[in-house]
Amino acid sequence: MRTIKGLSVPGKVPKHYYNITADLPFKVSPPINPATKKPINPEELKQIFPKESMELEISKERFIPIPEKILEFYKKYRPTPLIRAKNLEKKIGTNCRIYYKYEGASPTGSHKLNTALAQAFSAKKEGLKGLITETGAGQWGSALSLACKLFDLDCKVFMVRSSYYQKPGRKTIMNIYGGHVLPSPNEETSFGKKLLDQNPEHPGSLGIAISEALETCMKLENYKYSLGSVLTHVLIHQSIIGLEAKEQLPEKADAVIGCVGGGSNFGGIALPFYNTGAELIGVEPESCASMGKGEFKYDFGDTAKITPMLKMHSLGCEFVPPAIHAGGLRYHGVAPLLSAIKEHGLMKTEYYNQKSVFEAGKLFAETEGIIPAPESCHAIKSVIENAKRRKNQVLVFCLSGHGLLDLTGYEQFLRGELE
Ligand SMILES: Cc1ncc(COP(=O)(O)O)c(C=O)c1O
Repeated sequence: MRTIKGLSVPGKVPKHYYNITADLPFKVSPPINPATKKPINPEELKQIFPKESMELEISKERFIPIPEKILEFYKKYRPTPLIRAKNLEKKIGTNCRIYYKYEGASPTGSHKLNTALAQAFSAKKEGLKGLITETGAGQWGSALSLACKLFDLDCKVFMVRSSYYQKPGRKTIMNIYGGHVLPSPNEETSFGKKLLDQNPEHPGSLGIAISEALETCMKLENYKYSLGSVLTHVLIHQSIIGLEAKEQLPEKADAVIGCVGGGSNFGGIALPFYNTGAELIGVEPESCASMGKGEFKYDFGDTAKITPMLKMHSLGCEFVPPAIHAGGLRYHGVAPLLSAIKEHGLMKTEYYNQKSVFEAGKLFAETEGIIPAPESCHAIKSVIENAKRRKNQVLVFCLSGHGLLDLTGYEQFLRGELE
């Protein structure tokens, strides 16, 4: 067992990613073609996604080496700190030990850069000109814009319209890295135009932004689509979070907690703890609880129904969630890998309302000093509730990002105007 003197634990950057599918006692249902209802040939998906991402998607290898070029950049900000939240523990009067893995320490402020670097590296190796994507709160768009700049690729980002106006700073960050950002829905695509004709004030959703990114991708030569969550290859890239945390933790974890949008930071921190006896808990917003309230079924990943169908917990691909500040959690579905894990009883889910998660975020800022992203506040709320209920346990959570660009949400909260 590791002993620590301070509250932040040193560690090492792993040289491989972890792929839980090598260890699961069941198969995750494959994506299907909506017309034939037959599994999609991964070769077909390589026309849309970078080839290497699709190879990883179906890999059965347990440990996947991280290319040297990616490791080189990871080492600029990894291992991210694992910190004991002693002040928070004291404030809530728990005898549980709470640790958080701080992914906000990355250059773009969240865990998203872990997969962005890997995907941009694959795209460059394949000789692509650029990547096209969607973003909710702007964290993913910032990460991909930076990764594309580092590998000399173009980056075009459809940003959910409600977040585009709530978080203008994020757009500036993407622009600094050379990303080209459009609010979604957008007149530039036929799907976006149709939605704006129906409702010029349309708030957008991740499902819609995905449709627009895909539509654009299909029109452009030598550009491919990059997804910041949901698919297995993204969760594999994010496993670096949990692998590091496992090595850094001075004691055995009883529960590992993360917020769930598409599922990548939760999958990243939690899945490497599979089979260690720790409970894995995913936390969602009450207003968009795909796993908590959705149906486990084949559904489209986007709103225009362009994607293959994925077997996942879904609120329906046409569901437009309310414009909560945790823009990165406004997705109707979730990673099929996590859905299958939940169906087999290997993880639990919780959901909380927006006001209660901001209260938790403020308490965390007051005690630990870091202002958390509204998405991460969901994990904090859960950790507080679990720490109050449990006795003498070890709780670990992913602090997936900082909230320094989410101050509009905090301002509304402080004024008592949050619903
Ligand atoms: C800080 C932060 N945390 C969590 C998420 C949710 O995504 P995922 O479930 O893929 O981790 C996002 C998405 O944008 C995010 O920006």
